[in-house]
Amino acid sequence: MKISLLKVREDFDNIFCKSLENFLSKKFDWNGEVQANMQGEQVFYVNDQLNVIYPKYIKRALLTDLIKEYSWSPIWWKRQLQRIYSFFAIRFPAEKLFSKGRFSITPAIKNLEKWVFLPGNHSIRVIDFPGNECHVFLKVGFFKGFLENDFNIRRDFPDLPVPKVYNYSSEKHYYSEDKILGLPLNRLPNISERNIALKQARDALQSLYSKTKDYLSSEKYLRELCERLHKNSQLLDNELSGVVLTVCQKLKAAAQSYLPDEILVAQSHGDFQDANILKGKDRIYIIDWEYSCVRSIYYDAFTYELFFRFPQKMLNIYPQAVQKNQNNHENITWANDEESSHITGYRYLALLEDLDLKVQECVSISKITSNESVRTWLKVVYALENL
Ligand SMILES: Nc1ncnc2c1ncn2[C@@H]1O[C@H](COP(=O)(O)OP(=O)(O)O)[C@@H](O)[C@H]1O
Ligand SMILES: [Mg+2]
Repeated sequence: MKISLLKVREDFDNIFCKSLENFLSKKFDWNGEVQANMQGEQVFYVNDQLNVIYPKYIKRALLTDLIKEYSWSPIWWKRQLQRIYSFFAIRFPAEKLFSKGRFSITPAIKNLEKWVFLPGNHSIRVIDFPGNECHVFLKVGFFKGFLENDFNIRRDFPDLPVPKVYNYSSEKHYYSEDKILGLPLNRLPNISERNIALKQARDALQSLYSKTKDYLSSEKYLRELCERLHKNSQLLDNELSGVVLTVCQKLKAAAQSYLPDEILVAQSHGDFQDANILKGKDRIYIIDWEYSCVRSIYYDAFTYELFFRFPQKMLNIYPQAVQKNQNNHENITWANDEESSHITGYRYLALLEDLDLKVQECVSISKITSNESVRTWLKVVYALENL
């Protein structure tokens, strides 16, 4: 997630300082201070647009691969501008203008001279150049379960195309992983290359589903899902909780009328979207398994096709996308073809599961101070599904 978006959603500077202090003290037995926009010994610049926090004295060429995804756009003139921007924005003197803040670490730590930070949704990733690896640590006040998911699933299914993980420490809240090089699918200029990579990602997920699939009673599954939603929604503010419960009831009723008695579930990725499929030199990687969990078999396919993670985008494409998938099931049934005759029921179920995830995220992370994206999602689903 981009720093500019994180700043809207949470008190980013404070969270970054506290989380990094925590991590450094645990990793190096260091006792010091990380400060935002203050004088200090070791200075890091922040670029919100390129999503990097980098040491003042690092060789700028080292950053090239990390910001590559932001220097590409499908529109040719934007592409030229973005290339120019990403070259100059991290170099003196334009850097003075474009870097939107700084962090300083006191006392300085030698290892950090070539460390670059990529902040994310629930954790912060360090690109450790000398170690040729990454360290991923939890943001303070965030839900440790998501970090654990990301580690556990990659450890438990080593055949998946993922960066290898190691050294998870449950009480220290961090792990390490192989440093990889790749571009997200939405930044790949070549369409046929993109389609091949998407097919490879789908095949990998399909193989995960076939290893983990199970049939469950749909009545019991829906009941438990709604019970959890009810319980969690009590922790939301009254207005939001009311809307959540209404949408939950309506989705449940719709799902019930279309689903068979037994439904197929499997371990899902949980955040299947182009940004989480990276194309490396001669292979792909599926990253970001934080939301991985046992869910209905088409959950990932619907998350991808109906843009569950982009409520604003859903507004524009939702009815056409639903129609397209009703007429041509292939974009959904790549996951499994046994349940293709119940696809409408599975769509309502996937929406309900996504609502459950969103509410769980809201209530487990006190540091997220804006629920705007959940509200937009609810409005879109309520209106466009004619609930
Ligand atoms: N193993 C890795 N090595 C190098 N860069 C990585 C690695 N894993 C992720 N990244 C980079 O970090 C970015 C965000 O990672 P991700 O796990 O999707 O976090 P989030 O979506 O929560 O921000 C990716 O787009 C990629 O650029
Ligand atoms: Mg991601």
